[in-house]
Amino acid sequence: MVPLKRRKVVPSPTGSTGTDCSSGDNVKFPQFILFLLERKMGASRRRFLSQLGTKKGFQVEEKFSESVTHVISESNSAAEVRTWLDSQAGAHTPSVHLLDISWFTESMRAGRPVQILHGHKLQEQQTCEAEVLLFSVPSYACQRRTTLQNQNAVLTDALSLLAENAELSDEEGRGVAFRRAAAVLKSLPEPVTSMTQLRGLPGLGDHSLRVIKDVLENGASSEVESTKRSERYKALKVLTGIFGVGSKTADRWIRDGIHDLRQLGDSAHTLNRAQQAGLEHYDDLNQPVTKAEADAIGEIVEAAVVSVLPGARMTLIGGFRRGKQTGHDVDFLITHPEEGREVGLMPKVVSRLEAQGFLLYQKTTRNSYLESKDGPGRPSSNMDRFERCFSIFKLTEEERGGMKRADTERESDAHSHTSHQIHTRGRGLEAADEDEGVAEERSKPAGRKRWRAVRVDLVVSPISQFAFALLGWTGSKLFERELRRWAGHEKSMSLSSHALYDSKQSRYLRATSEEEIFSHLGLEFIPPSERNA
Ligand code: UTP
Ligand code: MN
Repeated sequence: MVPLKRRKVVPSPTGSTGTDCSSGDNVKFPQFILFLLERKMGASRRRFLSQLGTKKGFQVEEKFSESVTHVISESNSAAEVRTWLDSQAGAHTPSVHLLDISWFTESMRAGRPVQILHGHKLQEQQTCEAEVLLFSVPSYACQRRTTLQNQNAVLTDALSLLAENAELSDEEGRGVAFRRAAAVLKSLPEPVTSMTQLRGLPGLGDHSLRVIKDVLENGASSEVESTKRSERYKALKVLTGIFGVGSKTADRWIRDGIHDLRQLGDSAHTLNRAQQAGLEHYDDLNQPVTKAEADAIGEIVEAAVVSVLPGARMTLIGGFRRGKQTGHDVDFLITHPEEGREVGLMPKVVSRLEAQGFLLYQKTTRNSYLESKDGPGRPSSNMDRFERCFSIFKLTEEERGGMKRADTERESDAHSHTSHQIHTRGRGLEAADEDEGVAEERSKPAGRKRWRAVRVDLVVSPISQFAFALLGWTGSKLFERELRRWAGHEKSMSLSSHALYDSKQSRYLRATSEEEIFSHLGLEFIPPSERNA
């Protein structure tokens, strides 16, 4: 706000009425040190107006300095003027008043500084807008710091739901577009309140903007609401909620008229071993895993790893490494400081955990990555080529430690609702594969379940690829995608969870830490907690 006193016409100390002189002696209004911005006004008009001002007894500065009290501009927004001010070296002028040319011309006519009215000031609102506009948002998520403190959850939830729906419908491009838009909003330091704040932000396509506008104006997006209500979306959610069921399988089932677990149980569809286990533990696996549970499992797995290969190291990866308090699964990366010692480790770890009764299901894939064979830039080499184990872990109450009894009761109730009543169908073929513990549990009369099932992923990497695996498996998925897009588009490099290849130099760039990989990529290091894009 402009202080009222600024309105006062202050007599010049000399008492001069000078109208024709540019000397400081003839300044009649010393509380007004004006600066006219040339931007959009043009140099000759600025010169003319400056001379006019001086003639009328105003102090008009040729150069901008910190002594300037009022900046006069023509056809500029407050944002534009602030941007210009910020570009002036060493200018710390948060209190300078930004006035429109109309105040200046009226003052010239009056021969004195006229009262500064609301319409004379470059609008305050535009100043707020400017702060968001000026908050620089680089286009790639891997150039931004995205913490878990999302200021725009209402908007990003809407966009994420549409992204999920697109992904479930095998429309990957549309899914990525919504994910990118959501990620940009997640990186903003303040909640978005008006569409004008979004001007100039990257990654916001027409469709995403329509959704955002709808939410800002109506409190909800009609497209999101109708998607949530649609039978197809509901069915896709329920069916892909089964571990081992992807969008293609779910789509096939829906076309066969299967929309829920009961219909699936009643159908003649045979399920593979993963899907049977998924159905068996449906409720547990659709309940978020807590950090405490992740840590409890970490201790068990690490003990098994170290017992079969002393000196081996294990790291919590995925969302928990980014600081999330819950997750859909728990991911661990295992390595050994001596290259090659990790070979054959996974089957031993799995046997050990199995013997201890911790695995309700497991499927191990061999390491199929070979630098010489896979070569750089093969998209298929981006993921999944490590020795890897997808498992369903049996976490008992004792191992979970201080779990509240009420939690367990609730899960137990939920469990008896769905999966128990349908697990009898569709299994059979491979029932022998299943763990004794499960069979035993099943034969018991429905009582309070003293354990829960948790999805656990184990990955083993040779130490030479460890930094790449760590970076690749920490996520978020969009952050990873953006890292690879950056590498390809901006650096002519190809990044995977195994290696970084520089196409210009035709060579692999080695790294022993995440920091080194960011540096190879010409990116500022972003710590895991700020990769929540
Ligand atoms: P997750 O799917 O486990 O996601 O993948 P998350 O971030 O931990 O979140 P939750 O579990 O849903 O809470 C973890 C990371 O592993 C990589 C993904 O890119 C992601 O960054 N990943 C996952 C792979 O590289 N390959 C895969 O097959 C799966
Ligand atoms: Mn995870």
